[in-house]
Amino acid sequence: MNNLVLLTIAILSLSSPFIQGFSSFQLPIRLPWDAPATSFLTPKSPIRPNDKVVIFGATGGVGQLVTKKLLLKGYKVCVVARDEDKARGLLLDEGDGDDIKSCLEVAQLNLVGDGKASDEELQEIMKDANAIVISVGTTAFPTTRWSNGNTPQAIDCDAVSRIANLATSISNDVSKSSLRRIVLLTSVGVTRTNEMPFKILNLFGVLDAKRSGEDAVKAACGKANVSYSIIRPGRLVGGPYTNLDLAKLFQIEGGAENGVTLQYGDALLGDCKRDACAEGVVQALENESCVDVEFSVISNEEKALSTGEWGEAFEGMRR
Ligand SMILES: NC(=O)c1ccc[n+]([C@@H]2O[C@H](COP(=O)([O-])OP(=O)(O)OC[C@H]3O[C@@H](n4cnc5c(N)ncnc54)[C@H](OP(=O)(O)O)[C@@H]3O)[C@@H](O)[C@H]2O)c1
Ligand SMILES: *[C@@H]1O[C@H](CO)[C@@H](O)[C@H](O)[C@H]1NC(C)=O
Ligand SMILES: *[C@@H]1O[C@H](CO)[C@@H](O)[C@H](O)[C@H]1NC(C)=O
Repeated sequence: MNNLVLLTIAILSLSSPFIQGFSSFQLPIRLPWDAPATSFLTPKSPIRPNDKVVIFGATGGVGQLVTKKLLLKGYKVCVVARDEDKARGLLLDEGDGDDIKSCLEVAQLNLVGDGKASDEELQEIMKDANAIVISVGTTAFPTTRWSNGNTPQAIDCDAVSRIANLATSISNDVSKSSLRRIVLLTSVGVTRTNEMPFKILNLFGVLDAKRSGEDAVKAACGKANVSYSIIRPGRLVGGPYTNLDLAKLFQIEGGAENGVTLQYGDALLGDCKRDACAEGVVQALENESCVDVEFSVISNEEKALSTGEWGEAFEGMRR
């Protein structure tokens, strides 16, 4: 039994003679059933004002845009980055007010290699997260970005699996602030590695590694009753730009720039704008209809989806 209940019982038993004496007496405590119906929270509810979102890969193309959008909407954001100064430089603009700055927390940790973060360090950061976004990655073919063991297997499979398992093993009591959603970015082609052009892309196993990461996230979320969203973008193109035009960021309802085609599973092939992809991540966090979904996304020339249209699309992608 939690302390509030015990305290309430104690006050009730102590004061019962007085309550009988004064019919208008009111307890100075707000009881749970007094809360308005709109604040009703279930294990897979969307994020709400003041919630904390932990982002892995926030310095990446999509991750930067997701972080900015969430900060501008007033969420608390904790980013896990290999280089704290680089992260702050990329994620904060000169003009950002203290309200935005105070919402950003940076935890400097590496997910791979000799100096990689311990389980305890990762759990400490995720213990009060209401949602987690994972948008990490390396190159599909060997490059300098593979140095220090940063291969697709290490980051897209092993690190992603470890994050999902640790995040969902933290005591998950929905009456307290707790984890409700994980959004994972992977790629189109993860289930089509025998088809071109994915056969080539997968020569060093990047799609296989991402697929294993997806499976780990789905399994961990299933056990903990946390909602998962697997987003599989096409080839990523476009921003982030260092000087983000805020008006542009919020141009959700109009404009031709962020039109997207969404489809359940892994069926699309084409380019996807990073900003459109980031918008999909935010919608997946905020919409009550986005529960246990997996879909691919590419850009089109039509106008951006409204919030309602995103929600309707999510409804068709549950399994
Ligand atoms: N490029 C494409 O055409 C394409 C297509 C489909 C899907 N995707 C996938 O979509 C996702 C987002 O793409 P993107 O272009 O935004 O990614 P990106 O720019 O390559 O960003 C990758 C992020 O992962 C972080 N990261 C890598 N290794 C790490 C480690 N060991 N420890 C901690 N953080 C680490 C990077 O941090 P640092 O800043 O420290 O490097 C960076 O923030 C990725 O999963 C990507 O593979 C890409
Ligand atoms: C899991 O979450 C759903 C949706 O929030 C809820 O309806 C269901 O009762 C939960 N199941 C368990 C086993 O807690
Ligand atoms: C969520 O999606 C529904 C449709 O399923 C839509 O009506 C609603 O506006 C969306 N809500 C939010 C908060 O995004």
